[in-house]
This record gives sequence, structure tokens and C-alpha cells, in this order.
Amino acid sequence: MRVESGNGTEVEDNVMHEMPSVEAADVTVAPPRPAANARKVFVKTYGCQMNVYDSERMADALSAEGYLPTDNPDDADLLLLNTCHIREKAAEKVYSELGRIRLLKEARAAEGRTLMVGVAGCVAQAEGREIIRRAPVVDLVIGPQTYHRLPQAIARARDGEKVVETEYAVEDKFDHLPAPDRRTVASRGVTAFLTVQEGCDKFCTFCVVPYTRGSEVSRPVAHIVDEARRLVAGGVREITLLGQNVNAWHGVGADGREWGLGALLRHLAELDGLKRLRYTTSHPRDMDDALIAAHRDLEKLMPYLHLPVQSGSDSVLKAMNRRHTAADYLRLIERIRQARPDIALSGDFIVGFPGETEDDFEATLRLVEEVRYAQAYSFKYSPRPGTPGADRPDHIAEDVKSQRLERLQALLRRQQQQFAEHCVGRTIDVLLEKPGRRAGQLVGRSPWLQPVIIDAKSSQIGDIVRVRISGTGTNSLFGEQF
Ligand code: 5AD
Ligand code: SF4
Repeated sequence: MRVESGNGTEVEDNVMHEMPSVEAADVTVAPPRPAANARKVFVKTYGCQMNVYDSERMADALSAEGYLPTDNPDDADLLLLNTCHIREKAAEKVYSELGRIRLLKEARAAEGRTLMVGVAGCVAQAEGREIIRRAPVVDLVIGPQTYHRLPQAIARARDGEKVVETEYAVEDKFDHLPAPDRRTVASRGVTAFLTVQEGCDKFCTFCVVPYTRGSEVSRPVAHIVDEARRLVAGGVREITLLGQNVNAWHGVGADGREWGLGALLRHLAELDGLKRLRYTTSHPRDMDDALIAAHRDLEKLMPYLHLPVQSGSDSVLKAMNRRHTAADYLRLIERIRQARPDIALSGDFIVGFPGETEDDFEATLRLVEEVRYAQAYSFKYSPRPGTPGADRPDHIAEDVKSQRLERLQALLRRQQQQFAEHCVGRTIDVLLEKPGRRAGQLVGRSPWLQPVIIDAKSSQIGDIVRVRISGTGTNSLFGEQF
């Protein structure tokens, strides 16, 4: 999948780490700060919504340094790849992209022009200087915890240094990155991401996130509320709170008490002008009572929950260090459904984790049958260097992984289709987000995150309208305004 996001950033291949696939706002507008002879930056984003958010913050930081965002790589003086390391192919894609960029840089040099190339994100963090060794076209490697040092790093790279900035900063990067500016917010559409938590201390044995994003950090309430206010003032109607382990977020609340995500959502729901709240992605162990109660009580909190389980087999869950059983997960789902009966569930699954037997895999199929997912993401296990899973002696053959993935995906597709068909004939609230492919059409989102296509005027973007669903497409619904 390839989507354009606003403000000179481009998103490629929304593979998620523990995050469902929400397309980035794809409104492309004129850059906010036109100036003669300004330098231009093109940001290409791989991976999850956290990277989409980071790319926007990097673009903001660079625009303060006089770099205007551009949507055209041929126009750019600086190309930044914001990379993802969650599975093998993601890193390989970056290297092949760098091969293409080398040709572009050589063509530029032949015309006497320069092109600076930076690699950011989780591949940058994991590979560090190796990137420059393998792809000498790269001038700058910067990890996700050090983005606030980007302007200085670029100045050093301009002086001819090959810069590698992957040391974790002691200071909180959020404190140093500029808050979203009203003009760029307005250009990015009516939905926005807001990172509230970053990093992970869970150490699932398949996952690189604790190594690339570092340990769990929560942003303070005041910062989050301030950013949410700016977003709403800029026209945003729906905010998705982001974190690798978003439901582990905690902080001292406005009342001086310790808050969890449930209390934070309650507080944000009071913002006038904000119509919808979502959060992603969650770990089953951190779904506490207050968060479940928020789903029961808050009308603005959308009835959609991405709650990855990865496997339905207790022995695989143990080997993955998930620290819960399949039965724990099913009980939790039951409680969430009691609190919010219309909630749509989404999940992530890994097939072919080392040691996974046919019985283990069938336990996953049984769990899926029991839960009935509205949406899900499933992957073949990919050994990540440095993670405990990679060192296991009992890896599963590639063809077995492929076969299992196909069987699981067939089941998940059927469930997704059933969920969509269940919407047909109903009248639902749709937040209109952006123009559709055809003139006169707009695309919005159902409460359950499905894209909904209707005939509507562009002046209605940002409105929540009643829509009667008339049919289903591959990944979307069709309907008429009521
Ligand atoms: N191999 C395959 N899938 C993985 N994920 C994370 N690490 C790996 C890996 N090594 C999947 C998990 C996670 C999602 C975002 O990506 O399902 O929830
Ligand atoms: Fe990775 Fe597990 Fe942390 Fe999710 S909870 S980011 S899968 S280590």
C-alpha cells in the first residue's frame, strides 16, 4: 500500500508494529512557509503510525530551519527515509530504495547540484554506521530518540561529515521537537495522530521494538493536552493516541493523582470541538478496569480496539514471553464486550514462531473463530537479529509458514467480510475526511475504522454525517447520506 501524507511526507507500506493500518491523512497542500531559494526536504515514511507522526514532527523541525517540505523527490535538497525494522523486508526495501537514490544523487552531481540523504527511524537505530558502510550514498543516520538533534546533524552533514546519531538522548525528545504548528495541522486534515507513549519494556521474544525504540516513556499530561488543543484549533476532529504500548501510558493528572490511559481519555473527551478519540496499540496485560470503563462511558471513544494476541497457543505465547494465556485473552475480550457490546476487535498474529507445531497453529485458528475479528494483521515470523527468538534452534520451514499464513488469512478475510456485510442496511455516523477518487465523492471513516465512500460536497469535510450503508467493497463500505 502506498499513501501520500500531507506536507511533503510520503508513506509507503503501512506495515505496523502493533498498530492497525490507518492511512495517513492524504491531503497534499502547498508548503506553509514559501521563501525564495529555500531548501527543500522530501520525507518518505515506512511502517507504523508512530513513524508517520515522527515524520511530521521532523518536517516541522526542519521547516523551522528553513527547509520547506516537498512532495517531489526530484525537487528535494534533502531526502529523508523514515524507516521501519519490524520485519525483514522492511529493511531490505530501504536498501533497495537507497540504490535508486544513489543514481539520483549521481545524476545531480553531474549537473553540479548536491543532494543530502538521511536515514531515520528504526533501521537507522538498529544498523547505525552499517548503513553508511552498505550504502555510502547516505550522509546522515539518525535514530528515533534523537530527532530533536536533526537540525544540528544536518548542519554537520552539510560540512562533509558522515553523521551517525543513534545514542539515546537523556533529554526527552518530545520536549525539544516543535509542537505541531497551526498551519501544518490544518494542511494535514481532520484526523491526527498524537504520540503519548513511546518504547516498550515487554520484551516479546520476536520483537525489536524494545531495542530500537528503547524503554517505555510516557509524555506528561500537560504536553498531551496542549498538543491536542492545538490539533483541534487547527481543524482536527479525531485524534488517535499513539504508543507502542499505549495502554501502559501513565502520568500525574490535572487533579494531582496518578492517571492511566482511561483517565487521560476521559480528560481529552472534554475538549470542545474534538469529536472522536482512538488509541493504538495495546497490550492485553495493560487493559485495566479504568480503560475498559472508558469504553463503556465515553461516547467520543470509538468502539474499535486493536488488541494483538499473536498466537492462540499457550506454549507459543509462553515462548514469545507474552505473559498471558489464550484463556486470559478470551476472558478480557469478554469483559470488554460486556462494557461496549458494539466494539470491533482487531489483532496481530505471527505464524511460524520457532517451535510452533500444527496443534499450536490450530489453537490460533480456534481463538480467531472464538473472537470474531473485524480486522486483523498477520505475519510470518521473521527472525530479528539480537532478539531471543532469532537464536532458537527450532525455526519453522518457510513453506510451512507460508501455508499457515494463507490458512489464517483466509479465515481473517472471511471474518472481515462478515463484519462489513453486517453493516449493510444500517445507518451509521461517518466522519468525512477527504476527497474520494471520483469527483463528487468523499471518503470518511465509520466508528469501526472502515473507510466509507459517499457522494458529498467537499465543504462537508470534517463533518460527521449519518450514512446508510448500501454495500461493501474490498476494504471499504459504500453508502448514502441520510
Ligand atoms: N516477525 C513477524 N512479525 C512480527 N511482528 C513484530 N515482530 C515480528 C517478527 N519478528 C508483528 C507482531 C506485531 C506487529 C506489529 O508486527 O504481530 O504485533
Ligand atoms: Fe514488541 Fe511485545 Fe513491546 Fe509489542 S509489547 S512492541 S510486540 S516487545
